[in-house]
Amino acid sequence: MSKEALLDVRDLKVHFGGKKLFKKAVIVHAVDGVSFSVPKGKTLGIVGESGSGKTTTALAVLRLVPVTDGSIRIGDVEISALENKELRLARRKVQMVFQDPYSSLDPRRRVGDIVREPLDLMNIGAEADRNQMVHDLFVQVGLRPELAKLFPHQFSGGQRQRVGLARALSTRPELIVCDEPVSALDVAVQAQILNLMRKLQEELGLTYLFISHDLGVVQHLCDHVAVMYLGQIVEQADRISLFKNPQHPYTKALLAAVPKARARDGNEERVPLIGDPPSPINLPKGCRFAGRCPVAIDKCHSIPPKLTDRGNGHLASCHLLD
Ligand SMILES: Nc1ncnc2c1ncn2[C@@H]1O[C@H](COP(=O)(O)OP(=O)(O)OP(=O)(O)O)[C@@H](O)[C@H]1O
Ligand code: SF4
Ligand SMILES: [Mg+2]
Repeated sequence: MSKEALLDVRDLKVHFGGKKLFKKAVIVHAVDGVSFSVPKGKTLGIVGESGSGKTTTALAVLRLVPVTDGSIRIGDVEISALENKELRLARRKVQMVFQDPYSSLDPRRRVGDIVREPLDLMNIGAEADRNQMVHDLFVQVGLRPELAKLFPHQFSGGQRQRVGLARALSTRPELIVCDEPVSALDVAVQAQILNLMRKLQEELGLTYLFISHDLGVVQHLCDHVAVMYLGQIVEQADRISLFKNPQHPYTKALLAAVPKARARDGNEERVPLIGDPPSPINLPKGCRFAGRCPVAIDKCHSIPPKLTDRGNGHLASCHLLD
């Protein structure tokens, strides 16, 4: 898989801090040794609870947070150490779509200008053609081009996310990193935006890194799914294996909260998660999930399990599977 991968991330670490608190350096292990790759034209979903490190992983792919360690390759380019002009050039291939388009769209500017801005900044196309390009982008995301004159607050949430997509598409990126792109929308509107994203993917051959805390949403769009817990991937598989045959107790607990997935899996008795994850500052010594795991054994509290292939590329890290 990693040969034809458009995005390949190896042993990525993003640690924040090192600041001294009570004379002890505090380090937040937000992302702590994550590897995945996304083939061109495919979608990898990253799921996990709040604080598991999803957004930090996304920001690292765009080099918007300092990378502590590891490699990030986009196409043929290793971007983890690039700077200045080379970094700007490499970034053109990638765009980001955020959860809340309202806060990521400048409220004082007309949406047509918002979509046009990256074209001007990156000097894409002839200046005289850019209005037509904006017009075409609006059509592509299912917005009437006349709406370009309006301001973000005059749009519904779903329309604003269409504007966010048009803006992201303007630079003709190959990879789009989507951080909870539909989480702020009503369920019916979520489905419309997910359908639009799939249509755009087919038309333009886009590759998506799709972040969500909601397995139900991930199930609609993703080819592969990685489950994160406290800065690490605990399970990773193609969509069908992950939903039909989850291996890790954490994934099973997450699935218990998705009614449709629970029914399909035939296991109605699963208990949903209780409690909160431990702090990414003081990490547990053994398995990071041990404090909440309903099936933990003694060694879980002292020895961390390894992320291992359990057959057909289905990875999971749990002592009970060894
Ligand atoms: N700039 C920062 N400085 C210090 N700690 C940070 C910083 N950014 C994130 N963190 C911490 O890193 C951890 C991972 O955060 P992140 O935002 O990546 O999680 P997430 O999975 O996206 O969560 P959510 O679902 O709430 O968006 C959290 O404990 C968070 O508090
Ligand atoms: S290693 Fe132990 S604590 Fe961790 S998920 Fe497996 S059984 Fe649970
Ligand atoms: Mg987040």
